[in-house]
Amino acid sequence: MSFFKELFHKTEQILWSAFLKPFFFSFDPEKVHHFVVGAMKLFSPIFYLRKSFYHFKLSGKNHPSLEKEVFGIKFPNPVGLAAGFDKNAEVYKQMSSLGFGFIEIGTVTPVAQDGNPKKRIFRLVNDNALINRLGFNNDGVDKIVDRLRNRGDVIIGGNIGKNKVTPNENAKDDYLICFKALYDHVDYFAVNVSSPNTPNLRDLQNINDLREILFPLIKENKKRETKPILIKISPDLNDSDIKKIVDLSFDLKIDGIITSNTTLDRNNLKSKKKLAIESGGLSGEPLNKRSTDIIRLIHQYSNKKLPIIGVGGIMSTQDALDKLKAGASLIQLYTGFIYNGPSFARNINKEIIKSLN
Ligand SMILES: Cc1cc2nc3c(=O)[nH]c(=O)nc-3n(C[C@H](O)[C@H](O)[C@H](O)COP(=O)(O)O)c2cc1C
Repeated sequence: MSFFKELFHKTEQILWSAFLKPFFFSFDPEKVHHFVVGAMKLFSPIFYLRKSFYHFKLSGKNHPSLEKEVFGIKFPNPVGLAAGFDKNAEVYKQMSSLGFGFIEIGTVTPVAQDGNPKKRIFRLVNDNALINRLGFNNDGVDKIVDRLRNRGDVIIGGNIGKNKVTPNENAKDDYLICFKALYDHVDYFAVNVSSPNTPNLRDLQNINDLREILFPLIKENKKRETKPILIKISPDLNDSDIKKIVDLSFDLKIDGIITSNTTLDRNNLKSKKKLAIESGGLSGEPLNKRSTDIIRLIHQYSNKKLPIIGVGGIMSTQDALDKLKAGASLIQLYTGFIYNGPSFARNINKEIIKSLN
């Protein structure tokens, strides 16, 4: 069995690097994304079969040593899919069959919106990076809730935001609308105040605005069974502002921090200037160090008491281990998945098992 398992995984990897990746990378990134999501929906039985294989231990996904309880949730493994890939909750089951232990859907806004004009995703291949300025394109919370009604055993994070037309003074209402609508359909919430592609959204990271957004959510949470609430922050905050958010998290009993979203920093890029200066958030390898530094900062400053989901530039299995070592309880992937292909989450899990032995 083990021989066939390895053969299957090796074939998948060769297929990805020799054929699929060069083919996909020759087309527009957003078109490829829609094509892949469409194919996943069309061929979903293949993914469900694959998931059954996992249950028969054809991968490390259900290995008991990978299980982890964080903010009251039992995760089958610590490797999650970051927000933005399955914005509309269309393929979370298929993605979970690729070895992800949890899927963060969204960012979800109260009303459907198209996002910014296309073209709005760029590959910086020389930097192992992406720039995106999508701007919270999504189907709106009601449609997304419908797709989560039969979510089965997949652990889902609900990443919530505000509509572009909602002024910052009223942002708290948008967050609350999404929170209430998603409440029975997700396992935890990620309050996204860190996307660079919705004008002035990042201003909401100041302590007073954050408090105003979080307070109604906490109040609503207390009326119910209480779901974990996490804040997703920007890597462009300075250390002192990050510490203020940690203090606020203790003050309001927030369950954790997700660090980090994409960066506006364009230093030390190898790609051609024309590409490197595209506006939007940069993700992938150039983000790795800052994101890991922030994990370490929060871990130390919080006396290891605040759970952290580490995301940003995990491009290799070693990058994943480094984030866990720096203090992340869980990690998430986006750009690394685009560059490394469908085996990436599983390979990271295998490496985590090895590191534990
Ligand atoms: C195309 C794209 C779309 C994204 N959309 C969202 C989003 O809607 N909400 C969010 O919180 N983060 C979003 N992100 C940020 C990722 O969740 C992640 O925080 C960031 O990309 C850093 O991780 P990475 O280097 O592994 O990609 C997006 C990233 C990319 C590349």
